[in-house]
Amino acid sequence: MTMITRLPVYPLGTKVNRAGHLVIGGCDATDLAAEFGTPLYLYDEFTLRSKINEFKREFGKRYPDLLILYASKAFINGAMALIMNEEGLGLDVVSEGELGIAKSVKFPMKRVYFHGNNKSLRELELGLKWKAGRIVVDNFHELEMLGRLVKEKGVTQDILLRITPGVDPHTHQYTSTGTIDSKFGIPLPMKEEAIKKAMSTRGLNLVGLHFHIGSLIYETEPYVESVKFILNFAADMKKKYGFILKELDTGGGFAIQYTIDNPAPPFASFAEALTSTIKAECRRLKLKLPRLVIEPGRSTVAQSGVALYTVGVVKDIPGIRTYVSVDGGMGDNIRPALYQARLEAVVANRMRARMTGKVTISGKFCESGDILIRDIELPAMKAGDILAVAGAGAYSIPESMNYNAFCKPPVILVKDSKARLIRRRETLEDITRCDII
Ligand SMILES: Cc1ncc(COP(=O)(O)O)c(C=O)c1O
Repeated sequence: MTMITRLPVYPLGTKVNRAGHLVIGGCDATDLAAEFGTPLYLYDEFTLRSKINEFKREFGKRYPDLLILYASKAFINGAMALIMNEEGLGLDVVSEGELGIAKSVKFPMKRVYFHGNNKSLRELELGLKWKAGRIVVDNFHELEMLGRLVKEKGVTQDILLRITPGVDPHTHQYTSTGTIDSKFGIPLPMKEEAIKKAMSTRGLNLVGLHFHIGSLIYETEPYVESVKFILNFAADMKKKYGFILKELDTGGGFAIQYTIDNPAPPFASFAEALTSTIKAECRRLKLKLPRLVIEPGRSTVAQSGVALYTVGVVKDIPGIRTYVSVDGGMGDNIRPALYQARLEAVVANRMRARMTGKVTISGKFCESGDILIRDIELPAMKAGDILAVAGAGAYSIPESMNYNAFCKPPVILVKDSKARLIRRRETLEDITRCDII
């Protein structure tokens, strides 16, 4: 394999220039590393908007009433929220912070869905005060708290109930949320009680149901199974209590291709499986078609993001392994350490260099588990090389940390050969800002 064969997992239109440098969004990655320093996270705006448009197209042509939310946990800041608004998407938020980012850029709150398995009283108060379009109630404790709040404030709030469908999405245990043994959502045996309670709480308007079965899901069958389960349940609740399912929120979770050897189904497959099942089941159960809400996070942003690192120490342990250490690692991308995520990388400043063998890319953090990529074929590496890691757009920066008092990297948007800083690098002042001496 050459490094060039890895380019399909990089942003669309990524290429190699005459100097043998990686070019993303028309920008030479080696120049970006020099200008902004490393580690550096870049997002290619064209790829990002193309992915959003693919969702709009593939779901939109198959289903009459659709709302796409961007799951902001994948990566959100002010600039990103503005792009989502320009594209007409809503936002899935799960915390005061994510809700606050939406508020800070005047994101239309009616398109904000407030999720979370342990929302605080303050978070619920903010959701009501800032008029989040929907609060997605996850459990009975929240249902009671929210019920008390709407009564006290004399307001009405549209809600969805998150039901755990008891479906195995066949993904890593840490990214699986739809099985019965999950901290998220109302468990199967209590689902009917939750409907009764929500419908009888004055000030709460139960408009629909939500499930989210997990992340990085490569199969369509778990979605089909979950939709069948939830629509049968809705039909039963209609018969028993007159519950009308106006909205069905099927969450996110669609896989993307992180490595060349592991392709993901196209968005169209997920769109076809979900929409055809909803239409067929609604016809069979004599239910009016609900509005379909989807919440893709990873699949919206992962491919557009690339992390650039500078190589430092190259340590060869003869007969054992060669460690190539970079200036970031688990502090900015914890996914490989947390759930053995696999990633591709290329040497951005020597794209035509000959592969010489397998190396292990390690980070600079004080943990032996701080490995970004194990056993990847690369050219002989040397200090100063720029390593470009693909698929860095989702769950990297939002899950980054200040371990070892690490300053979190900056984020840039690249488009039409221009780069724009959308989040500056943290400084020592940021690291010490909260200290009280
Ligand atoms: C409720 C909910 N919706 C959507 C998502 C987005 O998932 P993904 O990024 O896999 O599309 C998540 C993430 O786990 C989630 O918890």
